[in-house]
Amino acid sequence: MRSQAYVEGFSKWDKNKKIAWLSEHYLRDEQDINLLKKYWHPDKKIQALHDGFIENPVGNYYLPFSIAPNFLINGELYAVPMVIEESSVVAAASKAAKFWYRAGGFHAEVISTVKTGHIHLFFYGDKNKLTRFFEEKKEIYLQRLKPFTENMERRGGGILSVELKDYTDRKAGYYVIEFKFNTADSMGANFINTILEEWAEYMEEDYPGYGDANELEIIMRILSNYNPECLVKVEVRAPVEQLPVAGNKMQYARRFVDAVDIARINKFRAVTHNKGIMNGIDAVVLATGNDFRAVEAGAHAYAARNGRYESLSYARTENGNFIFGMEIPLNLGVVGGLTRTHPMARLGLKILGDPSAEELMKIVASVGLAQNFSAVNSLITEGIQKGHMKMHLNNILLQFDASETEKQQLFEYFKDKKVHVKAVKDQLNVLRNKKTTENDK
Ligand code: MEV
Repeated sequence: MRSQAYVEGFSKWDKNKKIAWLSEHYLRDEQDINLLKKYWHPDKKIQALHDGFIENPVGNYYLPFSIAPNFLINGELYAVPMVIEESSVVAAASKAAKFWYRAGGFHAEVISTVKTGHIHLFFYGDKNKLTRFFEEKKEIYLQRLKPFTENMERRGGGILSVELKDYTDRKAGYYVIEFKFNTADSMGANFINTILEEWAEYMEEDYPGYGDANELEIIMRILSNYNPECLVKVEVRAPVEQLPVAGNKMQYARRFVDAVDIARINKFRAVTHNKGIMNGIDAVVLATGNDFRAVEAGAHAYAARNGRYESLSYARTENGNFIFGMEIPLNLGVVGGLTRTHPMARLGLKILGDPSAEELMKIVASVGLAQNFSAVNSLITEGIQKGHMKMHLNNILLQFDASETEKQQLFEYFKDKKVHVKAVKDQLNVLRNKKTTENDK
């Protein structure tokens, strides 16, 4: 039985003390603590680096770092690093990459790279007064911010615009100062939030000399993860006659287009459809040290931009060609954050040829589209379970500690049979009982 324990000052304890506490209250079995320690990195420097990433680390949680080769994107061939736990994802991406390699590859273009941040505030006085204050101070504050923006400007980024917006029709007194940024090769979260906090501080300092201090109340200053103007488009196209099916290709194309259309009109399907896209996107985002939660939040919000949650991708046939593509907002960086501090993220970027943020957007979007292509292709043909089976079987066998010989025998046995946990367990028992009986003879 675990004993539940409230604790104060946990973050200040060293790792051993934290683990001793964990073992006293939540992990009493020594083997569990041994397991935790088994996952520590033997190189103390690497472990210290990982421990530095977050608060209260007690161990490491490994995910496989994998490669999906043969991604032809705008004529360049990439081997794409992917970090993900779902067994079929890399196989599906690789399969689609190989198919589209033969059919001309992915065509990707960055449409825009604008990011936004906001100061959310309440103003209880005359709107004209706030507008005047904002307009009078705008240039002064932009100059005052130079020490914070100079470096970003040297890299081609900076503040693009600042605008006061009136939302008082939605909530009394509510205004927003909306900033647009170009953050060059970084995702820009630190840069944006610093600018917003500085600007808000200047306002709070200056307003009392301008009007009644009680009129202005700043509530929040934060970037937005909704970046509909940080957008990449990716498309594949091939003559219907080249599509990867044995049977009727026109019928296949029609079914594919219908499947994507269903994801446009049916939100239950749309969410799953888009989840399939994010399978590929998140894996590359993680492998390159980027923020997958930000990308997820932004992508799903974009999928609902028309007031209804819809498929991110589109498909159509046109003049005998099959066209499949999507537009997706991706706020990615190749400098800053984990991209430089996590050695595996650095390696991931190196495998991709150290791309710029815009190149990375194109690669990530292509993998998302490839993933979607594979999923829809399976769904409209044999279903997804068949393709998952080998991986699924492997995972079940891992669960039952199957030996290499048992694995080989069961892979052979399940070649033409349906895989599910009970069937695998039963067949494993048959093998194991047979072995015991033979040994007893
Ligand atoms: C599974 O992780 C993803 C799929 O469900 C996506 C889809 O249904 O399009 C296969």
